[in-house]
Amino acid sequence: MVVATAGRSTPKPGKSVVQLFRDKSQKYNQHKKRESKPMPWVDVSDEESGQKTGKNSLKRNGAMANGQSPNLPSNHRRKKPRHSHDTSSHAHNGVQEDATNGAGPSSLSKAAAIQEQRKDLPIAQGREALIEEIRKNDVTVLLGETGSGKTTQVPQYLLESGLVGNGMIAVTQPRRVAATSLAARVAQEQNAPLGQLVGYAVRFDEKSTSNTRIKYMTDGMIVRELLSDPMLSKYSVVVVDEAHERTLRTDLLLANLKKIIKKRNEPTKRDAKGKNNTTSSNPLKIVVMSATLDAEKFSKFFSGAKILYVKGRQHPVKIYHSAEHQMDYVDSAMRTFFQIHTDQPPGDVLIFLPGQEDIESLQASIELFARQLPVNSPNVLICSMFAAQDSRKNIQAFAPAPPNTRKCILATNIAETSITIPGVKYVIDTGKCKEKQFLARAGGGGLDTLLTKDITQSSAMQRTGRAGREGSGMCFRLYPESAFKAMQVSSEPEILRTSLTSSILQLKCLGQDMQDLDLMDKPDEESIISAFRTLWLLGSVDQKGSLTPAGRKMAAFPVDPMYACSIVASEGLQCTSEVIDIISVLSSSSKLFVDISDQRDAVAEQRRKFRHPSGDHMTILNVVRAYEEISASNGTTSANKNKAAKREWCRKHFLNERTLLEAQEIRNQLRTVCERENINWTVSALKKTAVVGGAKEDGVIHEEDSIIKALGHGLTGNAAFLQPDGTYKQIMGPSIVKIHPSSVLCDKKVAAIIYDELVFTNHIYARGVSSIPKSFFATHEPLKQRHA
Ligand SMILES: Nc1ncnc2c1ncn2[C@@H]1O[C@H](COP(=O)(O)OP(=O)(O)OP(=O)(O)O)[C@@H](O)[C@H]1O
Ligand SMILES: [Mg+2]
Repeated sequence: MVVATAGRSTPKPGKSVVQLFRDKSQKYNQHKKRESKPMPWVDVSDEESGQKTGKNSLKRNGAMANGQSPNLPSNHRRKKPRHSHDTSSHAHNGVQEDATNGAGPSSLSKAAAIQEQRKDLPIAQGREALIEEIRKNDVTVLLGETGSGKTTQVPQYLLESGLVGNGMIAVTQPRRVAATSLAARVAQEQNAPLGQLVGYAVRFDEKSTSNTRIKYMTDGMIVRELLSDPMLSKYSVVVVDEAHERTLRTDLLLANLKKIIKKRNEPTKRDAKGKNNTTSSNPLKIVVMSATLDAEKFSKFFSGAKILYVKGRQHPVKIYHSAEHQMDYVDSAMRTFFQIHTDQPPGDVLIFLPGQEDIESLQASIELFARQLPVNSPNVLICSMFAAQDSRKNIQAFAPAPPNTRKCILATNIAETSITIPGVKYVIDTGKCKEKQFLARAGGGGLDTLLTKDITQSSAMQRTGRAGREGSGMCFRLYPESAFKAMQVSSEPEILRTSLTSSILQLKCLGQDMQDLDLMDKPDEESIISAFRTLWLLGSVDQKGSLTPAGRKMAAFPVDPMYACSIVASEGLQCTSEVIDIISVLSSSSKLFVDISDQRDAVAEQRRKFRHPSGDHMTILNVVRAYEEISASNGTTSANKNKAAKREWCRKHFLNERTLLEAQEIRNQLRTVCERENINWTVSALKKTAVVGGAKEDGVIHEEDSIIKALGHGLTGNAAFLQPDGTYKQIMGPSIVKIHPSSVLCDKKVAAIIYDELVFTNHIYARGVSSIPKSFFATHEPLKQRHA
């Protein structure tokens, strides 16, 4: 029996006892070029959950479900060659367009192999019991080891069992890369093209049709869907996956699901004695899932929902802790990588680091040392994955490595949960992550901070789980076991540490107040007050906290409320076209300007060409316009030549073309929302100033006046006035800020500035800065009221 029910004790991170011993077979073969001390590893194999793989209940005929003996050393255990997935196929996890529905023997055998693999997953043993339990219960909490098959299989079981009727199954994920890659995998398992039977929806990107039955989506997307469909009526089942992450959106979703299920599952009629006799016509099922979950807490939240436990892991993962604390985790990660590269059989390596800077620094070191490897050693291919990187670049990590090459993926915690990166056999965990913490101020103008900190036990187990998806794996933790034991079990829910502005606005549109919602954890009062202050400054709520018509318009835009406010304000200022151009770039996932430290002068020279005296926002607009002119000027050349010319132009000007391409997609979506909201996005400040005129004292028409004002409406909470000492003081907060060196205004003194964000290093720096007339704030209605 694989599915166990609530009475059974469920594994809790960190509760188990693990045996400590030095693994003598793991001699450290230091990379030849390095002088540093070898890193002794301590083997603490078998999961912290205390489930020894050898005693796994999945044993069939005395062997592991995958047919491998758990007692052999890992390098003998491998049956399949590395990259046993079909390397001949160009399809890969993230972007695969056409699943295995092509004709021919190779696609047939691949499809058959995938079906075999499905049957071997631990969860397959409990398929019938699982469906039965979900059929019987409105809400089910499902716990199962990483890789047991929860996310890929449960939705397919529900679909195949007919339990969902004609309804749709939503599977939520905290991260877009998980939603898109899982949809691609499940489409492949269903032998259907991605976007048909199985689709996905993430911000600014959706692949689904009205026939889609399984939709992987970010928790943000489903919360947004509540605005148009408050009962989520097209979904028969909502699977809330990776619920342990407790993202703000997951918590809001859970609170709403609790309300929805009461309404949707209410019997529709009562008989003469007042007893229910007709069941609801469109009932909802909820499944909450994770590998590392405080199941009881979720069960309690849903009034004692049934807890199911899927036992077993398909492939064992050997865990090693470093014997000592590592002072420099980037250096330790590099040494460990080369230790694996020189000592261990083929298999890709996934390294978890806290942020982009560490990723770039480690990439440079690995590339440097890889060049000095003996000629006969395999090549090293580095891929990176982090949230600020274009999603198309992130999914490159899923593509198979070329022959005789070990892929090394450097990732932040966006690769920590849910995903399977084919080929990965080794995980290196630095034990660090970056966490957003919002410092709320009841007076408004709170600050977002992003700090590097130790991960939790739950994260460590999730990271370990990324190895051993296709065969046995190894996880090297760059911290001692004592450090693992000292880690927090799980992280603080995001709702207790993040800005609530956007969520409160969305809830207002649903007629809900965060204070009244039945949340698993309630945010503190100061955060709520701070968010209301910001919304009031933006004009989205009035002084009583009620939603204004402008606020409702703002909520329709899938961007930060401050930028949504600027778009709405641009209507009256007749500059929507330009404001959308700028905000599309600001909302894309990567930076527009590429900084290369050893070419600083060349970069500065190229950047000067776009420089606008008013600051960074108009500078962005200059880039967007110049980029579009390239297309226009190449009108008669072939599409390929045009593409190449644009790419070369971006390279020459140190611009990230991906950002510009992504911005074009975002712009299209924002224009569509404008049309829905009756805002004419074609209205342009350039056209207006050319026709009407708007000469300043210098007699020149300044199109930027209205554009900066529109941005100023959104960024009033991000504004500061010049002080006599040359620094700037926030108008909505007490902080003294400096203009970031990357800004075109960095060496200028202007009376007042607006900025996109603050960054903390040795000072508080304002980034994305424009000059704005001080008089703007004297006419700004909420500020006038505030000062009155
Ligand atoms: N893209 C893929 N390529 C190859 N195998 C895959 C892929 N995606 C999933 N699998 C296989 O399916 C198994 C189950 O994956 P699934 O994502 O359903 O597990 P899970 O229980 O949800 O794990 P987690 O808790 O880590 O999210 C993996 O261990 C792997 O063997
Ligand atoms: Mg999963």
